[in-house]
Amino acid sequence: MKKFVIAIDGPAGSGKSRIGDMLAQRLGYVHISTGIFYRAIGWKADQHQIPLHDIPALQALIVHTAITFQHRDNGNTAVFLDGKDVSDNLATNEAGILASKVSAIPEVRQGLFALQRRAGQDGGVILDGRDIGTVVFPDAEAKFYLDASPEERARRRFLQLQEQGLAADFDRLLMDIKQRDYDDTHRQTAPLRQAEDAMYIDSTSLSPEDVVSVMEEHIRKILQKI
Ligand code: DC
Repeated sequence: MKKFVIAIDGPAGSGKSRIGDMLAQRLGYVHISTGIFYRAIGWKADQHQIPLHDIPALQALIVHTAITFQHRDNGNTAVFLDGKDVSDNLATNEAGILASKVSAIPEVRQGLFALQRRAGQDGGVILDGRDIGTVVFPDAEAKFYLDASPEERARRRFLQLQEQGLAADFDRLLMDIKQRDYDDTHRQTAPLRQAEDAMYIDSTSLSPEDVVSVMEEHIRKILQKI
């Protein structure tokens, strides 16, 4: 079977990560959540107290940052930033907000663009993010736009944080999700939007298994045409 690039875009908490993992397992693909790159840079800039208007400092930070992944036995992927396991730090809501802020900076997007392109260049990869099907891999063979209501997405994030033993406040999460939706769709560079040739899936009342089945069916149809 030909191994191609699969793009999954959509707003925060729409299930891209989980769905990407499940689909990767079924297809024997590698899954990369590109939000991790933005979380890592946002978090590291904050740790180093680099103001977000200091573009040269942010560019230098990206050049001097190593982001690597390690698959754990439980199926999760650990993220290492400059050799240190920062998976828990990057999973927090605060890291998501920092990521949203740095992701609005064109020079940061440019710096991370090459890393994402390189990650998918050999195919057999599922990349999830906000602009994978529109900007990073406009030529991806299969594209999906995954959506769900803000309330449902806040509920999922709440349960996810609870499972990880991290503090969570539903109303705050919902407010943050709405704010990030606004920021992600209104920024100047690569705003979140559905690619014209992407399949739209509203997962509000679908189980993850249902979503993956819909995707597999779509991929099968594409394969028949190639
Ligand atoms: O998917 P996530 O919650 O880890 O993403 C965190 C932030 O990173 C999100 O607010 C938007 C940004 N992001 C982006 O701009 N482009 C991507 N390809 C992935 C994430």
